[in-house]
Amino acid sequence: MSRRRTLEDNQERAKTLIERRRSKIHGWGVFAKTQIKRSTKIINYAGEKITQKKSLPRQDKYLEKGHIWCFELNSRWVRDAGVGGNIARFINHKCKPNCWVDIEGDVIWIRAAKNIRKGEELGYDYETDGDKTIQCRCRPGCKRKL
Ligand SMILES: C[S@@+](CC[C@H](N)C(=O)[O-])C[C@H]1O[C@@H](n2cnc3c(N)ncnc32)[C@H](O)[C@@H]1O
Ligand SMILES: [Zn+2]
Repeated sequence: MSRRRTLEDNQERAKTLIERRRSKIHGWGVFAKTQIKRSTKIINYAGEKITQKKSLPRQDKYLEKGHIWCFELNSRWVRDAGVGGNIARFINHKCKPNCWVDIEGDVIWIRAAKNIRKGEELGYDYETDGDKTIQCRCRPGCKRKL
């Protein structure tokens, strides 16, 4: 089976696992539609693959509107979910996450860090290293900036 086919299959399966809803953390969030077992590859973070250099002006433009769409693959490459992104781009940051990021080549997998209950909001640690201008709202009283 080709890699493209595998990603398409995963995207289809993801529709049975997760859905986009309004979040108490921020705007849209992604929630479990059913119980998700620890370690499951829930969805890949889709987006145009571009160089870090090309992503910098885009990141500035996105940040003006309070968005972070660019996800670093490695020191050279970035995935920009602002172009060709999927539902994964709506997963919010959590300082105590129930998901983690597993980068396999140029595929960014969002995986379950533990058993996730139906209805739980998904979140992973963004590990941002930029200007840190966004106050984290993952839970009341969180002092971190993203
Ligand atoms: C990848 S988007 C997530 C989807 C976003 N909620 C939306 O509706 O577009 C990332 C943006 O969501 C917001 N965000 C995500 N997690 C957050 C958090 N823990 N606290 C505050 N804002 C958060 C920030 O504005 C960030 O730039
Ligand atoms: Zn937080």
